[in-house]
Amino acid sequence: MDPALAPKTPSHSPSHSRLGLFLVRALLVAQSAIVLTGGAVRLTQSGLGCPTWPECAPGSFLPSPHQAEDPLNIWIEFINRLLTFVLFAIALAVVIWVLKSRRRDLRTLAALQVLGILGQGVVGGITVLTKLHPAAVGSHFILSIALIGGAVALVERSKGYPGRGDLNATAPIARNLVRALLILGALVITMGIVVTGSGPHAGDTTAPRFGFEIRTVAWIHADLVIAFVGLLIGYMLILHFAPVVNDQVLLATRKAHAWRIFAITLAQGAIGYIQYFTGVPELLVMAHLLGAVTLWSVLVRHGLRVRAFSRVAPSPSISV
Ligand code: HEM
Repeated sequence: MDPALAPKTPSHSPSHSRLGLFLVRALLVAQSAIVLTGGAVRLTQSGLGCPTWPECAPGSFLPSPHQAEDPLNIWIEFINRLLTFVLFAIALAVVIWVLKSRRRDLRTLAALQVLGILGQGVVGGITVLTKLHPAAVGSHFILSIALIGGAVALVERSKGYPGRGDLNATAPIARNLVRALLILGALVITMGIVVTGSGPHAGDTTAPRFGFEIRTVAWIHADLVIAFVGLLIGYMLILHFAPVVNDQVLLATRKAHAWRIFAITLAQGAIGYIQYFTGVPELLVMAHLLGAVTLWSVLVRHGLRVRAFSRVAPSPSISV
């Protein structure tokens, strides 16, 4: 926890707050895990294991022994569909906890999680009905990225961190750099999805592809990463050499977080290059997915903590 950020006083008993924190953390883990299980569906060519939606096979919501698909592909796809219900149940539990605890600051975030998961069901249906069109598969991923961001915000708020605009301990230049990192990070992920949509891991041999030249899109993706690293180094230099944070303890935490983001980015970039030059082996693609989700979570958390979107005027003690 950022020591310099004083948590708001919880309005309920500690055990009630602990339950809430457990639930929102479980939601974050589940939102991240479903990206990985979705990746496993794609990488094992199980995308059309259940060839219809919402039924698994025509006339049956469960896998049918008469299906032509390979049983392994059927079950991988079917279990991934079932996980959506687990995720939905956790999101509903979060909504109930939020309503019971009268945390008005969490209501919208919690409701958006439920709506987003319902939306994922629809996008999942479109994905199957379009025979895994990469735009549909990519939209699935982008919605997950938004939901992971929302789940991170829920965790942060549940810990009692101040809401938007409550605090202004960071100079505008640092806040704007973190905002730019968030935008660039989202662009890197979106371009990664375009690379995947042009690559060999479609989820089924019959699935359509974007048709972009893989070298070109991978090159743009990697260039965006290089820009991200440049911006991140700029942000770290500013943290080290300019008086952008008006509290020493807070500054030390910011620096530690920035180094963590830097290390994850370098590891993720290394996996990216290795997978590119070795013909995108499945295990590395999974590691790259995990890296993308991890990087996004820590980046959003950092953004929330520096109050990147704070509207409060800068404090007189901060001049940069
Ligand atoms: C901050 C660093 C990076 C992030 C956050 C990132 C993120 C992503 C994401 C989200 C995807 C889509 C994954 C999927 O749909 O399965 C992807 C795919 C890909 N990325 Fe990256 N990436 C990074 C660095 C790199 C670098 C430096 C390269 C080097 C060329 C690279 C090469 C690739 C390739 C080849 C794919 C397609 C994999 C496939 O066909 O399944 N990435 N990346």
